[in-house]
Amino acid sequence: MTEPSIDKVNNILVVGAGAMGSQIGMVCSLAGYGVTVQDIDEGMLEKAQEQLRARMARNVEKGRMEQNEVNAAFDRMSFTNDLEGSASETDFVIEAAVEKLDVKRELFGKLDEAAPEHAILATNSSTIVSSQVADATDRSDRVCNMHFFNPALVMKCVEVVRGPKTSDATVETTVELTRRIGKAPVVLSKEISGFVANRILGALRDEAISLHEKGVASIEDIDTACKTALGHPMGPFELMDLTGIDVGYYVKMARYEESGDPKDKPKKSVVEKFEKNELGRKTGKGWYEYDEQGRKKAPSESEV
Ligand SMILES: NC(=O)c1ccc[n+]([C@@H]2O[C@H](COP(=O)([O-])OP(=O)(O)OC[C@H]3O[C@@H](n4cnc5c(N)ncnc54)[C@H](O)[C@@H]3O)[C@@H](O)[C@H]2O)c1
Repeated sequence: MTEPSIDKVNNILVVGAGAMGSQIGMVCSLAGYGVTVQDIDEGMLEKAQEQLRARMARNVEKGRMEQNEVNAAFDRMSFTNDLEGSASETDFVIEAAVEKLDVKRELFGKLDEAAPEHAILATNSSTIVSSQVADATDRSDRVCNMHFFNPALVMKCVEVVRGPKTSDATVETTVELTRRIGKAPVVLSKEISGFVANRILGALRDEAISLHEKGVASIEDIDTACKTALGHPMGPFELMDLTGIDVGYYVKMARYEESGDPKDKPKKSVVEKFEKNELGRKTGKGWYEYDEQGRKKAPSESEV
């Protein structure tokens, strides 16, 4: 068997051209790698290219990047719906397709058959640990999680999660690739749902909600404490409104179903918001209220 190694990584295949996959592809090509972005949906491939071109044009306009650097990155990139063809020429796969286990398992089976032996198959999934897809392949030792944060062009952290069968060479190669694309690797030696960053964020959120439910402080003051005492760019309530209160609700429900521990259930006030469809910015009201332009209004009386 050919062991994976960073020296063999020249071409990267990103599967899925959505919010994450398109930007992960751009990050890798800006770092000098040949990149293929694959998606089953032609429309998504077109949209990804348009959005990346517009975003890169803004970066050039603002003097953050040189035009020739951007041109060279696009020259190294291709977009396709051919999975098997692109997998056969890749040295490293980052799967960022839709968050459905059956879709990912089928993809990993196909990728395993088509990709060269030395290629690592990594998944960017936020909730599916790699052992759940590794057994759809004959290369469990070369499968791991490589979890980027949104927006991938901006956020530095990448969690590299070792599955029970992941080899040292796979972890070392993935960590080194993470560094070479300008990101900060965080290695998890074992699988755990939520990984590190989102678990810590979840704990912070739970405490913030609990302080609010106990009547200790208003949501606005709790957000102020996080921003001005802890240096967070946003308070936990502001962040929940941005990402969607329903997203947090589903994550907690999934964790509760997995653990059976009532402590993992969504908190009472979150359930209330969810049931009232007060999901944050997208519905105009969450913890805060928003005007038509999406600007935050003062917290309503009932929340304080
Ligand atoms: N959005 C986030 O904040 C975030 C952050 C970190 C990780 N993730 C993970 O990244 C992955 C993608 O999330 P996203 O937000 O980019 O989703 P998205 O819905 O924006 O994109 C998913 C893409 O997958 C494509 N797709 C579906 N089935 C496919 C198949 N069989 N083959 C190839 N492409 C297929 C869809 O056409 C779509 O373009 C998920 O696993 C998610 O857990 C998301």
